[in-house]
This record gives sequence, C-alpha cells and structure tokens, in this order.
Amino acid sequence: MTPSDDDPRKARRPPPLAQVLLCSGCCCGRTDGGRPAVPIERFKAVWKAEKLNRTVQLTVSGCLGPCELANVVRVMTPDALEWLGRLDGQGPYEALLAWARDCQAAQALRQRPEALARYRFHRFGMLARPGAAGPAIGP
Ligand code: FES
Repeated sequence: MTPSDDDPRKARRPPPLAQVLLCSGCCCGRTDGGRPAVPIERFKAVWKAEKLNRTVQLTVSGCLGPCELANVVRVMTPDALEWLGRLDGQGPYEALLAWARDCQAAQALRQRPEALARYRFHRFGMLARPGAAGPAIGP
C-alpha cells in the first residue's frame, strides 16, 4: 500500500537545526598516534536513545581536512560554520553533547558552551590554530 498525500505517516519532521560532524578519519581519534579517542559509539548510542538527531544531526565523518588540528569537529548551523580542533580529551565532546541536549530541550539553537571557545579555529584563516584571532564565526 502506498501512502496518499494526506496520509499522516507521510508527514515529514522539520529538518534538524544543526549538524555536528565528528571526524574519525586518518588522524582524529587515532589513539595509537597519541590522540584522544573520538567517542563515536557513545555519541551514537546517546543520540539514538535521546532522539537528538531531530534537533542536532550527528554525522561521523572521514577526514575533514585539517588533520594537523586533530581531533576535529565541525558544527553547522543555518548561520554559522564552526570548526573545533585539538579536542584534547572527552571534556569538549561532553560539552558538545550537553549543547545538543540543551538545543533538544529548548527546541531551538542554544549558545555553544564557552568551554568550547578555546578549540575554535578558522579553517582558511592565516593562522589555522585553535584560539587564533579572526573574524567572528557566529554563535
Ligand atoms: S582525520 Fe580528522 S581532520 Fe583529517
């Protein structure tokens, strides 16, 4: 049976408000190279259990490019593209998770935790390193 146009099963959910890309490429999360693990399985389990994808889509990605700043995460919102690099443990990942939960609870984009500020970098800036001076990159 094919649903008709007025079938409520066909109704689509609104798109998520943001997307988080966790890099798990050639360098990010390579503990044998001395980098912290990327909590992929934990994030997947939490995202699924709490249905966070409805608000913040989680994508586990191959190499995003700036390997020299591994571990890397990219956060995309309608008005900002934020890069986070050299995530140096589970703390920044937990801050991202808390932010996603906050957005889910509010059903709105929330300010990202200040704890993440020191990991921000400008992908194509003159100084591609966390904390480098550069233009504002959004909320
Ligand atoms: S492996 Fe993560 S940026 Fe290249």
